[in-house]
Amino acid sequence: MAIKKVIRMGHPTLREVAKEMSVEEIKSDETKQLIKDMMDTMEEEQGIGIAAPQINVSKQATIIGIPNDNERYPDAPEYDLIIVFNPKVTVLDEELQGFWEGCLSVPGLRGFVKRPRKVKVNFLDIEGNPQEIIAEDFIATVFQHEIDHLFGTLYVDRVEDKMLSYNEELEEFVEDDEDDFEEDFEKDSEDEI
Ligand code: NI
Repeated sequence: MAIKKVIRMGHPTLREVAKEMSVEEIKSDETKQLIKDMMDTMEEEQGIGIAAPQINVSKQATIIGIPNDNERYPDAPEYDLIIVFNPKVTVLDEELQGFWEGCLSVPGLRGFVKRPRKVKVNFLDIEGNPQEIIAEDFIATVFQHEIDHLFGTLYVDRVEDKMLSYNEELEEFVEDDEDDFEEDFEKDSEDEI
């Protein structure tokens, strides 16, 4: 196990555009170790996605995965672990959907962010082969959140006006009062991304 420290908002690495990776680099032992470290760290922190810059490695690598037995996130849709390098996002449905997002690099807070509900992601897999995946609904938000990390953007940059909250206040004042929101509020949005 190699659990790495997750850097927090304010660290300059989180604001850099991460470097694209060559196929040779993707297939290297160094990258296999990087991905293992990201998996270990994500599991330790109970995240459902993590990007390399969050462990202070400025490379275009991210992983996403939602196990069905995750006790903290029982309502989240299960999603098999996926390893993504050099992703490019194409919006397939511009209709916006909102979720209360969290981030391991912004601990203790949630913010309501609207993003396109359906995207295509072109990327290289762990063998360096081109892949394409369609992501919809909550998973589309997770992909966009993680890929934002590779381009120096945090969810707090995209929060709807005044809709940023500490976790506890969100639970106390917001989550039990869903009628305050015209948006399609979903419990799944409690997950730490
Ligand atoms: Ni994040």
